[in-house]
Amino acid sequence: MPETAKHPLVDERLARASTIPSSWYTDPAILEAEVERVFGRTWQLVGTVEQVAEPGMYFTTMAAGEPIVVVKGGDGEIRALSNVCRHRAGPVASGCGTRKSFQCGYHGWSYALDGRILAMPEFEGVEDFRKEDHPLPRFVLRQWGPMLFVRVASEGPGFDSFVGELAARLASRPLDTYRSAARKEWVIQCNWKVYVDNYLEGYHIPIVHPSLFKELDYANYRTETARWYSIQHSPIKRGERLRKAPPGENSEAEFFWLYPNLMLNVYPDNFSTNLIVPLGSDRTLTQFEWFFREPARESVRKMVDDTVVYSDEIQLEDIAICEAVQKGLMSKTYSTGRYSVKRENGVHHFHRLLTEALEGSPSD
Ligand code: FES
Repeated sequence: MPETAKHPLVDERLARASTIPSSWYTDPAILEAEVERVFGRTWQLVGTVEQVAEPGMYFTTMAAGEPIVVVKGGDGEIRALSNVCRHRAGPVASGCGTRKSFQCGYHGWSYALDGRILAMPEFEGVEDFRKEDHPLPRFVLRQWGPMLFVRVASEGPGFDSFVGELAARLASRPLDTYRSAARKEWVIQCNWKVYVDNYLEGYHIPIVHPSLFKELDYANYRTETARWYSIQHSPIKRGERLRKAPPGENSEAEFFWLYPNLMLNVYPDNFSTNLIVPLGSDRTLTQFEWFFREPARESVRKMVDDTVVYSDEIQLEDIAICEAVQKGLMSKTYSTGRYSVKRENGVHHFHRLLTEALEGSPSD
């Protein structure tokens, strides 16, 4: 463990607890530990079923620092394979597309879609190396609604315990019927935890998001925490920028967070994912994807466009405050803070999970 991570666990009593130390937001050694112990051992969103709808379709991505290719085989099974050639670590695939087999972009070794080595050109005479013994390593992959998740480490919470409760909670929303409608990425100059902390409380909404404040019933904004996720929910009050559901249906905005880096924003007519990926101790990529029913229909297209425009407004407000907070966390005058008991139990929950991962052995 990095020396700076040797910090007492965040007190489980919210009213007495202090936040994680500011050095955790700036120290590259902490990020290194997080990649292995936080990101590597949890279920990471890697893409959608639509990206591998047909046999041979594939896409490449990174999860917890591992290059991965997700592919649908000729047998119809979706696999997550290491995108690292067994020869000298070249990329087996790049981008996305459809293929009958993969060919490494360095010296041309070829691989079947299930990871077996098919051919090793000009490799005759090499002793004690059987291609059958060196397929591309495979990672565990699970599907939930249109989303695909991978866990890089062999140990960590099982998928069912990880999202099971959450899936049950969302059972009334037919996620399977939604399709990808838009995607957008942002790079933000802050540590990934600054962005996550900010997401996990509505405390800042009156100050940072005046227009969202008018839409939501802030007095009835609540945060509930569970083992691996939390949910913030609020009735939609005004309904000018956020559409209300028809009478009798769930008209709440629900903001789910799945430890450690997936946000799931669920509204009456759409949901969006926002995946938070650290690029460095003070740089973070956020990847939004919006899902609607029948997104190609003209009437839905307008709703998609309006939703993305409003999300961008909120995101720009969040980026400005998160980048300012990152600068504050580097101040020599600040090392730790306290939580609002009324409004910041979600941040406290995140910090408890984080210290548990960095200092102990999380279990189901
Ligand atoms: Fe893949 Fe050489 S690194 S063929």
